[in-house]
Amino acid sequence: MDAFRIVGGHPLRGSVRISGSKNAALPILFSSLLGGSFTLGRVPCLRDVKTTLLLLEQLGIKNSGCHPAKASEEREDRWSESIALHEGDTSAFEAPYDLVRTMRASVLCLGPLLARRRRARVSLPGGCLIGARPIDMHLKAFERMGARITIHHGYIDAETDGLEGCEISLPYPTVTGTENILMAAVLAKGTTTIVNAAEEPEVTDLARFLVARGAKISGEGSSTIRIEGVDRLDSTDYTVMFDRIEAGTFLVGAALLGQGVRIEGVEHAPIASILDLLSAMGAEHESTPSSITLEAIRRPRGTSLRTLPYPGFPTDMQAQILPLMAIAEGPSSVVETVFENRFTHVMEMNRMGANIEIHGSQATVRGGSRLEGAAVMASDLRASAGLVLAGLIAEGETEVRRVYHIDRGYEAIEKKLEALGARIKRVQEDQP
Ligand code: EPZ
Repeated sequence: MDAFRIVGGHPLRGSVRISGSKNAALPILFSSLLGGSFTLGRVPCLRDVKTTLLLLEQLGIKNSGCHPAKASEEREDRWSESIALHEGDTSAFEAPYDLVRTMRASVLCLGPLLARRRRARVSLPGGCLIGARPIDMHLKAFERMGARITIHHGYIDAETDGLEGCEISLPYPTVTGTENILMAAVLAKGTTTIVNAAEEPEVTDLARFLVARGAKISGEGSSTIRIEGVDRLDSTDYTVMFDRIEAGTFLVGAALLGQGVRIEGVEHAPIASILDLLSAMGAEHESTPSSITLEAIRRPRGTSLRTLPYPGFPTDMQAQILPLMAIAEGPSSVVETVFENRFTHVMEMNRMGANIEIHGSQATVRGGSRLEGAAVMASDLRASAGLVLAGLIAEGETEVRRVYHIDRGYEAIEKKLEALGARIKRVQEDQP
């Protein structure tokens, strides 16, 4: 297994280009199951994207630009950022356990399969380390739209004689739930209204992409989205939005160690809550319409934070902000409201010298710590990114193990950090 070996304390300088968003690319790729063809640009070279292409291939979607079976072995420099997809054979409708268990987002095939092929068989995703993560809201919405759903032997079996639009009021603005319903509704008969829809920029990106293909959608980016069903979608060329969580991760890196780090290929609005938090901790930044330059904060101040659905502070950035809070002057607190078990990185950060206590959904960070390098283990994607940032600021050597988590969602993070001046290399675990 791969690990990252990091020698901490080296300043970061220069510029870094942010990749396309994982969480925007995945639903857009799954929407290929709605039929027709399109070309998608700025597709990040990530393990989750490769898993998606593999699943889509099993479901009869052809792609040019990347052969998923080969892509899993191929090096990143042979990855094509632009992928053309088109519908081939439409007889398959199953997402098997072996793929779903490696990537929960596979559940995003349910909506488009039901809408287009009227049948879907998808392995029920289990809980994961960060929480139970049920998909009851997705399933109830499809039932309201006219699907018959049963669950047997760990599989969701769904079928319909044709989905029909209706009003769906979500108890919580679930991100992939909103995306799944949106994809189902574009080919459903009549009008669907999603009330309490997720407002995340990735949902808006999916909606904009579908509109570019001729879907009739309004209200995307707000809490009420209206979709008027159409018979078919046109082809289009579309570029995925930037990855706001990758951008946020590099912004924290700059706040820790930057000597003028320019984050390129970003927009301000989707990362406003992250920039606001960094400002509250003492960061100053300069921005152009597509870049942000940030220096290390000389004396970071502790602050309090609550993770929330967009436009609130993203749960996907909570682990990365903790190393900055650990070294800040004064205490900080973090309340995690989105997932029930998203503090697994805290014990590892404490082993590096942080002083963080967990009480239920709240982490209290004492502040004023000096972090020291240690061997630590990543337990999920964003937790790994938090540990890498902790390693960059720590004194001495840190080994972050199990970085296969980070490869799911960060494109060549060690190469991007190395280009900025960090001392980080990918090694085999336990390699001398
Ligand atoms: C998306 O997950 C993202 N994944 C996550 O990114 C992100 O952390 C999360 O949204 C929150 O922003 C993708 O976009 C592929 P939710 P999702 O449904 O859609 C509960 C990353 O690191 N819930 O908005 O699965 C759920 O348990 C990842 O890139 C139900 O109870 O999140 C959670 O507590 C991890 N029933 C809350 O809602 C449901 O039917 C929010 O989950 C659905 C959700």
